[in-house]
Amino acid sequence: MLPYSRFDKLRLTERLPMRSLPRLILFGALVFVVFMLYSNYNDKKPLKEENELNVFKWAPPPVRHDTARNLTSYKSSPLFDAYYNCVYPKLRPLKGKYVEFFDEFSSLTEECDNLKAYNALDIRHVYNKDETKYIALPRNQSQLLTMVTLGIGHDIMGEISLKELHPNTQFYGADPSPEVNKILYEDKLGGKYYRYAVSGETGVQKSSIYTEQKEELAYRTETTEHIAVDYFFKYILNKSLIDILWIDVEQNEFPIMEQLHRNGAIDNAGVTICQMNIEVHSGVFEQPIGEKQMFHDFVWRVLEDRRYIMLRSYYADPFIRTFMINVGDEECRNPLLE
Ligand SMILES: *[C@@H]1O[C@H](CO)[C@@H](O)[C@H](O)[C@H]1NC(C)=O
Ligand SMILES: *[C@@H]1O[C@H](CO)[C@@H](O)[C@H](O)[C@H]1NC(C)=O
Ligand SMILES: *[C@@H]1O[C@H](CO)[C@@H](O)[C@H](O)[C@H]1NC(C)=O
Repeated sequence: MLPYSRFDKLRLTERLPMRSLPRLILFGALVFVVFMLYSNYNDKKPLKEENELNVFKWAPPPVRHDTARNLTSYKSSPLFDAYYNCVYPKLRPLKGKYVEFFDEFSSLTEECDNLKAYNALDIRHVYNKDETKYIALPRNQSQLLTMVTLGIGHDIMGEISLKELHPNTQFYGADPSPEVNKILYEDKLGGKYYRYAVSGETGVQKSSIYTEQKEELAYRTETTEHIAVDYFFKYILNKSLIDILWIDVEQNEFPIMEQLHRNGAIDNAGVTICQMNIEVHSGVFEQPIGEKQMFHDFVWRVLEDRRYIMLRSYYADPFIRTFMINVGDEECRNPLLE
């Protein structure tokens, strides 16, 4: 007598030719249903997270480089040349290597922070609660400075110190969260507060804001009114020259940075920005194109623009802070030089 299993197996094999088709179809359908349920579940999960986290859907337009932008008519200044000659050989090997470029940018360019050419500048620093901001002070202490803070984040320590360094400064601050920021910026600092998330385009979008939540301070995603940076400077502030700009806007910096290049929206609005402290974030929200690539492209375009030098960069994963001085425009450069 055959053992049961053997017998069964035999029977199965015998029956297989006749019954295999409906069985296969049934089995196939079952696999298909299970697969669909599974893939649907898998699709849904990131989608839900996406709605919560990947709120920031901005994608940069294709990068146009030197020849396409025709920058030949812009002369560089000796300050820019000194900067370029120092950083270009250090950064060139990392062109196209987005991750290494982001991670090594500040250490690679550190050696270029104290060039002899920069001795003509009076660079100071002030402290915010958790970071250092740099300022190139004008030589004339009576010169009226326009200072703009994009993203106040409940912290005006740096602005207060700047006011001590150069009392003749007018302050304008924008932040989508008014509770604490309006009081700090207007009553404590004597500036003017605007309830806006300043970014690349005007409209209602989501952004990450620093605010009080169940008696705790935390970043939270909120739908807020966004305003395009060029519109904000030109039509809300009514300024054609911003002496000092501090940007800390939790990833809305990328669409702002996009406007900083030659022939960009800020240029087209007739607005000049003389110096900036920017915090560049990587990986806070998932971007269609990685932030590290966007930063990489930004730096190469800054080098092509021959307008800003970038110094005192500081890297602490996942962000880079950098200080940029406009040495390309005379109205920015001349007041800073001895
Ligand atoms: C670039 O601009 C300069 C002056 O603005 C002009 O003379 C030159 O023909 C332009 N080159 C190209 C390739 O468009
Ligand atoms: C300094 O700036 C003030 C205000 O703009 C101006 O009146 C004065 O002439 C300037 N002084 C010098 C030495 O340029
Ligand atoms: C904008 O500023 C200019 C000069 O800086 C002034 O003449 C003009 O009146 C201002 N416009 C508004 C709407 O405040």
